[in-house]
Amino acid sequence: MSLEAAETLFRELTGREPEGAWSAPGRANLIGEHTDYNEGFVFPIAIEQRTTAAVARREDGVIRVASTFDPEPVEVAVADLASLFGGPAGSAVANGSVPEWAAYPLGVVWAAEAPPPTGLDIAIASDVPIGAGLSSSAAIEGAIAGAINDLWGLGLSLIDMAKIGRRAENEAVGAPTGIMDQASSFLGRPDHATFLDCRSLETQSVDLGFAREGLAILVMDTRVTHAHSTGGYGERRASCELGARMMGVPMLRDLTVDDLARAEETLDDVTFRRVRHIVTENQRVLDTVDTLRSEGPRAIGGLLVASHVSMRDDFEISVPELDLAVATALDAGAIGARMTGGGFGGAAIAVVERDRLDDTIVAVAAAFEKAGYVEPRQFEVVPSRGLGRDL
Ligand code: GLA
Repeated sequence: MSLEAAETLFRELTGREPEGAWSAPGRANLIGEHTDYNEGFVFPIAIEQRTTAAVARREDGVIRVASTFDPEPVEVAVADLASLFGGPAGSAVANGSVPEWAAYPLGVVWAAEAPPPTGLDIAIASDVPIGAGLSSSAAIEGAIAGAINDLWGLGLSLIDMAKIGRRAENEAVGAPTGIMDQASSFLGRPDHATFLDCRSLETQSVDLGFAREGLAILVMDTRVTHAHSTGGYGERRASCELGARMMGVPMLRDLTVDDLARAEETLDDVTFRRVRHIVTENQRVLDTVDTLRSEGPRAIGGLLVASHVSMRDDFEISVPELDLAVATALDAGAIGARMTGGGFGGAAIAVVERDRLDDTIVAVAAAFEKAGYVEPRQFEVVPSRGLGRDL
């Protein structure tokens, strides 16, 4: 769907045909939350919903970008990218010189540090819900990185492009996020999750077996919005850095569950609980991959639930709507459920028997209504292919 929409917008913007179209999916994280910037482990999937960029080169060095997020096309000269993003992180967004969505595509072009051989016309359309914790931002970054990699012959690997996306997000947009979203979006494969070691950046594509076993992944988007360039996300990251410093290790990745007794003696209560979440979550990711391989997908539910409890009680990034979605899905028979993504709102996921999917959706909607919450947006996500060229 986003392919046709991007092509149509491209023609409206430029009056010509695009040279190609590149797309990348949103993502849902199965397990491993806030571990990425601690150089730990994550285990996400790419989802079916995608963002597409229809792109053609221009002679004049100007980069024009338009999207279905914004009715007005935005025009920016390439010569301006350095001054747009070279200042304090996120300054171009903060001072309103570009709308926030445009900082993602332009930020990727800037972060690639390729002397742009040409200008670009770019039209972006997306099926990834925004603000739902499904990484609509990484999907934009992937579509643009794929386009410039091919059109400018940059020869980048998927992980190189993931690093560029993360840099755009950190330095151009000003969100202090890790590399999980980009890696999971760009490297996705049908019915597989990506096991990523965020220190070595080594990846393994792990067969989930969900399709074979009749299991579905339900997203329960609470529609409580979140933004990672503000507030809680950065505070959690700072707590992790403080915890690592006080424990005398470079990163929380360097601690194991055997270090937790010492951490409890050394750290204040809040920092200890932040550290305990990261350390136990890293172990849960490893256990999930092992359990999947040895016992199959129905055996991972307890790990997903333990992850949610740790985020709720130790990392304190859940909200009542997420807790209700998780509890209700479990009551309705889900194998496992947890909030996914950065937290403070956004979505939870549940792994459910396919024949229980509709009943679970009804139960969660009813529970939200009873609690007086806004109606959640619920839909199935299917582990899908990553970044690619579609035209
Ligand atoms: C957001 C960030 C990711 C990751 C998750 C939490 O999605 O963009 O880098 O830190 O939160 O796991």
